[in-house]
Amino acid sequence: MVEPTLRVFPDAGALAHAAADLICAEVRAKPEAVLLVATGNTPMPTYAELARRAAAGEADFGRVTAVQLDEYVGVPEDDPRSLWGWMERAFVRPLGITRTVRLSDPATFDAELRALGGIDLAVLGLGPNGHLGFNEPPSNPGAPTRRVTLTPASLESNRAYWGDLPVPQDALTAGMPVILGARRALLLVSGEHKREILRRTLTEPPTPEVPASFLQRTPLTVLADAAAAP
Ligand code: F6R
Repeated sequence: MVEPTLRVFPDAGALAHAAADLICAEVRAKPEAVLLVATGNTPMPTYAELARRAAAGEADFGRVTAVQLDEYVGVPEDDPRSLWGWMERAFVRPLGITRTVRLSDPATFDAELRALGGIDLAVLGLGPNGHLGFNEPPSNPGAPTRRVTLTPASLESNRAYWGDLPVPQDALTAGMPVILGARRALLLVSGEHKREILRRTLTEPPTPEVPASFLQRTPLTVLADAAAAP
């Protein structure tokens, strides 16, 4: 097993800068890289830094393919809760990306990824309950791309994103083999509230109760701010 690399930064801004450096290095080395991309709050400063670099002509994402990690069921893309909408506003459009793989049908999604040769780099957040994408606990490493019902813990943490709008109960998620099969993964973690789950993710034997813990078996770089560092 390869030891995950853990890098700790004084704050979320420094973390975002380092994450953007790693993503840009990947794309420089392979301009047609296939990137699996989380939404959520944690990666937003990283995506803003990537957008700044793209606008300044310091980075070119024109040949990159961006792959959606998860989506709510029954939420149209112009709904403020749509994760595709969020990904488009925060990542796809500002970086000038034209090639995308959306998650709307699990079989089509997996076939498209196979045709692309899999994921080069996964940019991931860590659920407060250890979920990865919407692979909720318990999820084993073979859990496929599928429809899931969100746990009460995820419904609660997702409530913070859209004020008074109800949180959808069901979602689609890229399966564990898609995520764990990425040639490289970055796990971005910030905030004190993630410290204990990050400790479990990195130091306890991999368990379905903490789906992110299976990342220990993959080429993983964890970027954490000081508040989240175990
Ligand atoms: C979102 C996703 C989720 C989030 C996780 C952390 O596309 O896949 O697994 O990465 O819930 O969310 P934040 O970053 O908001 O704490």
